Amino acid sequence: MPLSKLNPVYIAGTGSYLPEKILSNAELEKMVDTSDEWIVSRTGIKARRIAAEHESTSDMASIAAQRALDDAGITAEEVDLIIVGTITPDMSFPATACYVQQKLGAHNAVAYDISAACSGFLYAMNIATAQIGAGLIKNALIIGAEKLSSILDWTDRNTCVLFGDGAGAAVLRPGNESTGRVHATRIGTDGRQTGILKVPNSGTATLDPEVQPVEGNATGTIYMAGREVFRHAVTAMKESALGVIADAGWKTEDVARVIPHQANLRIIDAIRERLNLPKERMFVNLDKYGNTSAAAIAIALDEANKTKSIVRGDKVVLVVFGAGLTWAAAAVEW
Ligand code: COA
Repeated sequence: MPLSKLNPVYIAGTGSYLPEKILSNAELEKMVDTSDEWIVSRTGIKARRIAAEHESTSDMASIAAQRALDDAGITAEEVDLIIVGTITPDMSFPATACYVQQKLGAHNAVAYDISAACSGFLYAMNIATAQIGAGLIKNALIIGAEKLSSILDWTDRNTCVLFGDGAGAAVLRPGNESTGRVHATRIGTDGRQTGILKVPNSGTATLDPEVQPVEGNATGTIYMAGREVFRHAVTAMKESALGVIADAGWKTEDVARVIPHQANLRIIDAIRERLNLPKERMFVNLDKYGNTSAAAIAIALDEANKTKSIVRGDKVVLVVFGAGLTWAAAAVEW
């Protein structure tokens, strides 16, 4: 059912949190056989944040969430639903969202996690928008939070240079506000591609023969077939962006800002070319934070909001892609 048939939903506030420690490309040069030149030219990433040892995913998520609540001007007690998108939960259970509920004192909320890798935040937006739109709940807190540094093989140059830690959040509310209205969301999955991006030997599946012999892939760390992922990312993000633009009844040239997944500048450029949009319409902050998976779009949305890169009336497209494979997009009028 199109969102236009449901009650209107808007983004009432955003927040984010980035850990203090900055890990530069120059420091990575001392850890693996890589160079600042290689990383910048292939990915656009110059630095990433690394959480402190004592800092958990729910710690980062809770700070970002409280900032989003403050921005929305509502209290934790008013929250009906908390969804955390994460692939680096505090532990396998309870859900990280339960810890966030506890830390915020959001005791009236239902809280659970979504495992959709990088797409987790926009999967959460899709679910929360549908629930609010159907009148089942009022206020939802959606969060993307990751401590990816905990699942990286710091001897594998193919992956360790790409990722970082952080959290972002947004508050969704019912209402016909003129700013932040969610006009459309789409989510998608292709389980045939589970093999190209995964954390093998981290769960109940027997040891993964595809990965075990590969030198440099420590058990329980990210494995990625980079080129394959790149190819699928471009197609899936282009199609889901065009999908929500059509669902919202917009024209592509009217989109003021695309907030794409912050994985690789070359992926962002490829999507921009396919959407035929000028460079300045793409919001980019991956140079500072790398790929923070489910947190990336949420952090970027908050940064775009707080720095006025998106302003009232702007037609904004959020679009993401991740392991699964999963993808998602949203059309929001700021
Ligand atoms: N430093 C230096 N060299 C590196 C390196 C690093 N950090 N990582 C890989 N290389 C080397 C490879 O070993 C390879 O060497 P070889 O030719 O001797 O075998 C060479 O660089 C080229 O590797 P290739 O995989 O062809 O590079 P690429 O241009 O495809 O870029 C990625 C690699 C990972 C940056 C790119 O494929 C990518 O971004 N893919 C998508 C990843 C992604 O977005 N993942 C998250 C999705 S949510």
